Amino acid sequence: ARSTVGIVGGGPAGLLLARLLHRAGVDCVVLESRDRAYVEQRQRAGILEQGTVDALRGCGAATRLEREGLVHDGVELRWDGRRHRIDFPSLTGGRRVWVYAQTEVVKDLIALQLHDGPPLLFDAEVRQVTGAHQERPVIHYTHGGRDRTLVCDWVVGCDGFYGVTRRAVPDGVLRTLEKVYPYSWLGMLADVPPSSDELIYAHSPRGFALHSMRSPTVSRLYLQVPNGTDPADWPDQRIWDELDARFALDARFARDGGWTLNRGPVTQKAVLPMRSLVTEPMRWGRVLLAGDAAHIVPPTGAKGLNLAASDVVVLARAFAAQAADGSTALLDAYSDTCLRRVWRAEHFSWSMTTMLHTDPDQSEFETRLQLSQLDRIAASPQASAELAENYAGLPIG
Ligand code: DHB
Repeated sequence: ARSTVGIVGGGPAGLLLARLLHRAGVDCVVLESRDRAYVEQRQRAGILEQGTVDALRGCGAATRLEREGLVHDGVELRWDGRRHRIDFPSLTGGRRVWVYAQTEVVKDLIALQLHDGPPLLFDAEVRQVTGAHQERPVIHYTHGGRDRTLVCDWVVGCDGFYGVTRRAVPDGVLRTLEKVYPYSWLGMLADVPPSSDELIYAHSPRGFALHSMRSPTVSRLYLQVPNGTDPADWPDQRIWDELDARFALDARFARDGGWTLNRGPVTQKAVLPMRSLVTEPMRWGRVLLAGDAAHIVPPTGAKGLNLAASDVVVLARAFAAQAADGSTALLDAYSDTCLRRVWRAEHFSWSMTTMLHTDPDQSEFETRLQLSQLDRIAASPQASAELAENYAGLPIG
C-alpha cells in the first residue's frame, strides 16, 4: 500500500495529526500496535491547554469536550500550611485550561477517524522503518497475521519513547539528553466528588501531593512515593491519611474555604516513574518524531499531551504547505521550531517538579529555597504570571 504520510502510533499525537492532515487534504494511514480498547483505556493526564483545545476545535473533535470538559481558570499551591491561588485569565491575557482526560480525547479522535477519516489500523505491529534517506521510506508491519508494507513520502513516529520509529535513526545521529528523578508518583482514581473546584499542588515535608479530577464524581489524586514503590503497599486508608497530611492547612488558612478532603473508594492505583528527556533532532531524512517518541516530561504541570499536540500542529502545517506549493521550508524547520517549545516545557516541568517534591537526599537549605520560591510566587504577580503563562500554555508558534 501507499500513502503520503505514514503515522506510526495511534495515541493522541498520531490521531490528532491524522485529523489535521485529513482536514488539510493530505492522505495518511495510522498504524497502531495495540487494540482499540487498550488505547482508549490507557490512563494518562487530564489537562488540556488553550492551544490543544483550539487544535481539537479546529479539526471538529471538540464536541464532547465542549459539553463535558471542565474549564479551569486557576490552580492552588499549598506549602508550609499556606495556600495561594494562581488566576490564569488575569495573568495571561485570558488563557485557561480544560480538565478532560486523555482517554476521552483519544476516544473522540478514534470515533471521528473510523467514521470519515483515512485508515486507522489497530493490531498493526510495526517491525521496522527503512529508507529514511530514500525518496520513499517504507513501514514494515504485521497485520492480520500477514507481513505488509506501507510505502510513504514521509513517516511520522508517534509511537512513544519505546516505539520502533526512533530506531530508524542510527545511533550517533540522535542525541538524547536526560534527567531521572529520585521519586515516583502513585496515581489514583477515586469514586468521590473532587474536594475542590480547582487543582491543588502541595509541597510538604512528607512529599508532594496533587489533587485533580476527571469529572464531578471522580477524583484523580497523586502522591510522591519512593522509586520502586509497590501500589499494594498503599491501601485506601493509608492513601487518604497521607493525602490529608500533605494537604493540611494551618488554622489561619483553614478558616476561609473550610477545606475537607472527601474520601471514597480508590478504583485504580499505579506507580509512574518521573523523567525528563529530549531527543535532538526530531527529524532525520523523511522520518519525523512527535510527542513522547521525541521527548518526555515529568508529569508535574501536565505538559506531555500538550507538547505532543503542539508538535503535530506544527507538523500538519508543514505538510499542508508542502502539499500546496511543494515547499519543504516548514518541514525543514520542524525540529528547530518544536525544540524551542519542547525546551520551554522541559524547563517548566522540571521547575514545578523540583520546587514541589522532596528529594530523599534534600538538605534543609534546599527546602528553604523551595519555600522561598513559593513565597515569591505568592507575593509577586510577576512570579505568578511566569507560572500561569507556562501552565496555561504559550501560543503554538
Ligand atoms: C493531572 C496530571 C498532572 O500531571 C498535573 O500536573 C495535573 C493534573 C491529572 O492527571 O489530572
